[in-house]
Amino acid sequence: SFIEMFVDELPQMPKIKGYEIKNGVPVAGNLTIGIYDTTWKFHRDLPPTRVFAYGTCKESATVPGPTIEALQGTPTYVTWLNFLPSQHFLPWDETLADIPPSGVPTVTHLHGGVQPPTSDGNSLAWFTASFAYTGPHFSSPVYYYPNFQLPGNLWYHDHAFGLTRVNLLSGLIGTYQITSPHLEDPLGLPSGPEYDHHLVIFDRDFRVDGSIYMNSTGNNPDIHPQWQPEYFGKAIIVNGKAWPFLTVTRRKYRFRILNASNARFLQLYLSKDSGLHFTHVGSDANYLRRPTVSRKFLQAPSEIADVIIDFSLSTSDEVILRNDANYPFPDGDPTDHITSTVMKFIIKPDKVQDPSWIPHTLLALPVPLPYEAAKTRYITMYEYTTDADEPTHLFLNAKSFKEPVTETPKEGTSEIWKIINLTGDNHPLHIHLGAFTVLEQRNMSDVEEFRTCMQDVYVNDVVKCGLEKHLTQNVFAIPKHERGWKNVFKMKPGNMTTILVRFKPLGPEAQYWFDVTAEPGYGYHCHILDHEDNEMMRPMKLVH
Ligand code: C2O
Ligand code: CU
Repeated sequence: SFIEMFVDELPQMPKIKGYEIKNGVPVAGNLTIGIYDTTWKFHRDLPPTRVFAYGTCKESATVPGPTIEALQGTPTYVTWLNFLPSQHFLPWDETLADIPPSGVPTVTHLHGGVQPPTSDGNSLAWFTASFAYTGPHFSSPVYYYPNFQLPGNLWYHDHAFGLTRVNLLSGLIGTYQITSPHLEDPLGLPSGPEYDHHLVIFDRDFRVDGSIYMNSTGNNPDIHPQWQPEYFGKAIIVNGKAWPFLTVTRRKYRFRILNASNARFLQLYLSKDSGLHFTHVGSDANYLRRPTVSRKFLQAPSEIADVIIDFSLSTSDEVILRNDANYPFPDGDPTDHITSTVMKFIIKPDKVQDPSWIPHTLLALPVPLPYEAAKTRYITMYEYTTDADEPTHLFLNAKSFKEPVTETPKEGTSEIWKIINLTGDNHPLHIHLGAFTVLEQRNMSDVEEFRTCMQDVYVNDVVKCGLEKHLTQNVFAIPKHERGWKNVFKMKPGNMTTILVRFKPLGPEAQYWFDVTAEPGYGYHCHILDHEDNEMMRPMKLVH
């Protein structure tokens, strides 16, 4: 039996302030956020679903969790606590993770945040309830978020080694926004709780009793009893409700759209008869330099699009937000009526005043200067399979996560990274701490021959395998709305993607506010969570 669409109103998640005002001035905020075993209603007609959820107490825990509103320049301290039971309710795969004798490991990463390594949510800094068991990199549950970076959209989510895919599927996702009234108010963009919304989109499968369904048999059960290369669900959830609706008036609205799916790419557009388009003002954690328009955009897991929709231009009184990205992307199944529907906007007919506007320029972010790069690195993506061609694991640079660090950028420099994707899928590569600009995406020739050489003959040696002769003149045009400073980007299969990564702050500050070279360092990984968990992740350690 199938559940009806557009019966639940789009919720707004509870907001909590990451600062306090004392005698009229903002001072650091101290929050305690727990991770609870509770239930959540994903749809009017679906029984309550067991979830793991973030909240300031069990009764207020939500999926997604509360939105943390931080203020630029004012630090936020969060004490993350784990109240989870002795066992996971989803099939975790014991061959992937360090599973303690009891309890569910969790550790929270602030995605897009510029924070010290000890507060970065390193995969091995996990802990179970009451800190009964802790990972090798655990130091303290009190995390320091300096918030000195420019205003923008971040999100927090679980990052425990080998368990990230099941912990996010369980509900451990939330948004975090850094605002700067003095930089942002003059922009005149739509604002306030009515006109500025977060949209957190993910896919899930449910059983009729309401429980989350996840396949519990691996595609190679002898190697990984439960691991599957990508999780896809049929129900599209926005802010914790399946196919919700939002009633809007004929004016501009701002939507901060996060794809929080494990593996599903979204290619979003507004139903064609409406005539509406998106005006992008931000991408991942940063504003763009100027607004740019699109009719459709592709969003990999963990990417954030910050868009304005002007409903006064609509030629219809209902608009459906749709998705037509194949899954897996790009060569998997096409979406159907169910997976292509995201949510509905119901547009009230009457004319309203709209004091907001879209300025010609947004924030003056630094321009990328490739010639300043201190170093060039090659990062190669591999998939390993059985003789029957079933994937067993994925690696970066032919190395597992626990092999010694090889990426050691110097604090205060920029680097060119050339990412060579030798798999058949598109992988969203995410780098902690550093912000990057995509310079080029170039198609390669005879990829299979190059892959065999790199994977089997001269393990990961781009020179011996003749990289130069495999690069074609066929360059993909990076969409305008993705030419800003990002923290994740889509690595096309059979392409070499060149990015410029900054290991120095983007704002006016010349230096970081803390020791970026401290243990346990940072990391970078594929943000398809099922890949990240099966070791498509590497450590990264900054040096002086
Ligand atoms: Cu959003 Cu290391 O992840
Ligand atoms: Cu991947």
